[in-house]
Amino acid sequence: MDENAKLSFDGKTIELPIITGTEGEKGLDISKLRKETGYITVDPGFSNTGSCTSAITYIDGEKGILRHRGIPIEQLAEKSTFVETAYLVIHDRLPLKEELEFYSKGFTKHSMIHEDMKTFFRGYPQNAHPMAILSAMVCSLSCYYPEFIKAEPTDDEIENIAIELMAKVRTIAAYTYKKSIGEPFVYPRADLRYVANFMHMMFSSPVKEYKIDPEIVKALETLFILHVDHEQNCSTSTVRLVGSSRANLFASVSSAICALWGPLHGGANQKVVEMLQRIHDDGGDVDKYIAKAKDKNSSFRLMGFGHRVYKNFDPRALLIKDQCKMVLDRLGIHDPLLDIAVKLQEKALKDDYFKERKLYPNVDFYSGIIYKAVGIPLAMFPVLFAIGRMPGWIAQWKEMIESPCARIGRPRQIYTGENKRDYIPMEKRS
Ligand code: CMC
Repeated sequence: MDENAKLSFDGKTIELPIITGTEGEKGLDISKLRKETGYITVDPGFSNTGSCTSAITYIDGEKGILRHRGIPIEQLAEKSTFVETAYLVIHDRLPLKEELEFYSKGFTKHSMIHEDMKTFFRGYPQNAHPMAILSAMVCSLSCYYPEFIKAEPTDDEIENIAIELMAKVRTIAAYTYKKSIGEPFVYPRADLRYVANFMHMMFSSPVKEYKIDPEIVKALETLFILHVDHEQNCSTSTVRLVGSSRANLFASVSSAICALWGPLHGGANQKVVEMLQRIHDDGGDVDKYIAKAKDKNSSFRLMGFGHRVYKNFDPRALLIKDQCKMVLDRLGIHDPLLDIAVKLQEKALKDDYFKERKLYPNVDFYSGIIYKAVGIPLAMFPVLFAIGRMPGWIAQWKEMIESPCARIGRPRQIYTGENKRDYIPMEKRS
């Protein structure tokens, strides 16, 4: 049954169609609002605005539910692999055996980047932030693989560019790390799977082969799976907005990497560890920092806490917390930062400020401790988030360009500046 909502203003009433999602969420379709009324809506931060309909990811923030293509994240984290989950979000179904093999082999086959691109790495200062390099390199793929950048790609072309991007981003990330420590680049191995190969390219060197520990690989793989997609967040909206102008996938994803970099988004995992370290170095007084986070005169926030959508718990954080303990036990590491994190979480969850605002640990709260234990340097943390998020960005870009109602993204504004005034020549200005 078609439902409508009524909007009354200025003495007249208009009807707005109600759109209902498959899980029962409702939205008002205001796409004709301005045409029919002259009004627009104002919604800073887009908390109440749906920019699209999407069949990729479902989140119920109140209940702490996250599903990709209908499958709960808990099942994917336990039973799937990163490559299989990537296939699922991009294709809307789990792959058959031969499809999964085709995907996996594609990631190995296309993992090399053009030799000329390697010279770019030399041009960056050694302490350049890896997210800057990653974004620039992903955009540069458009220069070296122009065959993939079509305004209206076919299904096969989309499949190929998706494989190219996921294959190459792993190589670029590992090269970025090698550049930062001044070691030669390590080529991928054909016999290793996606995550194990990444660790090999990061940590092997011409004189020492990195010993792959399947348990640690599985922990990192779980982290990648937990980051695969998260509906219309800041970076994903960026992919869609940039892509809506028909910019190619490499350019769209490069912009998303920049959006992800910020400390309120994917850069938070780095900031969490920096915060825990700061608390540790300052004597470990957790109460002092909780008070600081609550103080409206201080800009300090508990990094890794709070979420725009989750208002109960972040299911990814629960899964990561378990992984975190396993990894530290396995590696025989006792990290005092984990003790501080646990204390911080316990105290914050009992504190009225955090309870009233429904602020819970998010995905970034524990992930950094795992990355640190595995030997990944701080600045690389958001890069790992970006590798994990790649399938989601690709799936969202694909869904957007394939949508029959895709239009260029172009929000409006309410102008609050000066009314018309005349130009004043320099000599008359005071
Ligand atoms: N520490 C202290 N207070 C907080 C925090 C925090 N981490 N997060 C929100 N608040 C307070 C905020 O000051 C506000 O208080 P009041 O109502 O008194 O003004 C209230 O809670 C609502 O916050 P908001 O900033 O309006 O919420 P938002 O939905 O705009 O922001 C957020 C969400 C994630 C940016 C924010 O919670 C935050 O800055 N968290 C820390 C950074 C972080 O961990 N980011 C990673 C997010 S998860 C990974 C991803 O997908 O990006």
